Amino acid sequence: MKEKHNVEYFDTQNNINETSFSSLSKIQKIDYVACNSLVREESFKKKVRAFWHNDNKIQDVFDQFSENTLTNYYLPYGVVPDILIDGKSYCVPMVTEESSVVAAAAKSAKFWRQRGGINTQVLSTTKVGQVHFHWQGSSSIIQNFFDQSKQTLFQAFEPVNANMKNRGGGVKDIVLLDKTSEMDFYYQLFVTFETCDAMGANFINSILENLARNFSLLVAQNQALSDAGGVEIIMSIVSNYNPECMVRAFVECDVDELRENDNYSGMEFARKFQTALNIAKIDTYRAVTNNKGIFNGVDALALATGNDFRAIEAAGHAYAARDGKYKGLTKVEILNNRFYFQIEMPLALGTIGGLTLLHPMAKESLEMLGRPSARQLMGIMASVGLMQNFAAVKSLVTTGIQKGHMKMHLMNILITLEASEYEKDLAKIQFLNEVISYSAVRNFLQTLRQYH
Ligand code: MEV
Repeated sequence: MKEKHNVEYFDTQNNINETSFSSLSKIQKIDYVACNSLVREESFKKKVRAFWHNDNKIQDVFDQFSENTLTNYYLPYGVVPDILIDGKSYCVPMVTEESSVVAAAAKSAKFWRQRGGINTQVLSTTKVGQVHFHWQGSSSIIQNFFDQSKQTLFQAFEPVNANMKNRGGGVKDIVLLDKTSEMDFYYQLFVTFETCDAMGANFINSILENLARNFSLLVAQNQALSDAGGVEIIMSIVSNYNPECMVRAFVECDVDELRENDNYSGMEFARKFQTALNIAKIDTYRAVTNNKGIFNGVDALALATGNDFRAIEAAGHAYAARDGKYKGLTKVEILNNRFYFQIEMPLALGTIGGLTLLHPMAKESLEMLGRPSARQLMGIMASVGLMQNFAAVKSLVTTGIQKGHMKMHLMNILITLEASEYEKDLAKIQFLNEVISYSAVRNFLQTLRQYH
């Protein structure tokens, strides 16, 4: 740690005066970090300011998303211009820092647009929340009590549920689960929800906390149950695992239509592609990478639309491991000379509420997609995942991934080395058939600059 500076809000021991860090102003926080972390003080302060939005109102919005905010962290916002999904053409926004991801999705989208586009099917939209609790008495007693109290519990959370019910959703059911075979005294109230166009986590958590409160209150008011120790609520929280909030996206074409050049026949390509996906069904090392590629697209659209990509990923990976073995999320069938390629995954999304309303670019993204319902967004997101996987596996079983990747990688290195447009053009020619590495590109530029 560098020596701390004695700015006015530090005391003589250079500890933050009176207040906690979170209550300092933004400028004070920046000063504090500049003085008390390992950054280069002046350059850090300059950078932090350079990334502030020049409209204070917009900056305030961003500052309030999170805590202790100093500045903004930019990521590129790109688009796939024309994905044909369920007969409708979409311009799909993607936020990602990884080169080749948008280009790969766009290339696959073009390929499949010429073969009828992508079809989607929402299989289910049920979400889950749980009240986890301890009960030390007999299982049948708490089960009977719950059955008798269910109606009252529903009535108690009705004011919280009413709005969602009016929109066609709300609490669907509550069941009591005896989990004592897995952990002593452990039970759950397992609650299912329909949250319409909202992702619904806040709504679900409010219902669950209401439910937990009223359930333990009812138990406490029952003499026999409280004599048996009552219930101890451990926690009440939405589950991000949503195997009942599922979507499928698929494409199909004649096997012969998969042939793009003389290097392979349609059937050769189809078989190799299928084998690659089958490997991801039996080998975890490959499955994780296969799915990582899928999430390159899924996360990019989730970010662009203000959806929670951590929740989406957690659910997707858990679903991929639902049989006790982690597997790829995509599969291929070849039947009667037809190639069928599909993805099935859980996607709990929102197109209203949360960040979707607050983030100016999330709002624009949803406009770009024609203000989709959550169900439509499920289909679009699964389609982007499918396109991403198609592009990756197609490259892998034909040219190899490095060809496309390295072109982008070269551009990134050239940008880092502040190459001019002229230098970039020369580098592109130079590295057509040469191995691309940071040092090779730097040496090339150094040599070039000696002579110009
Ligand atoms: C790279 O971000 C993603 C890939 O590795 C996915 C895959 O191997 O399927 C190309």
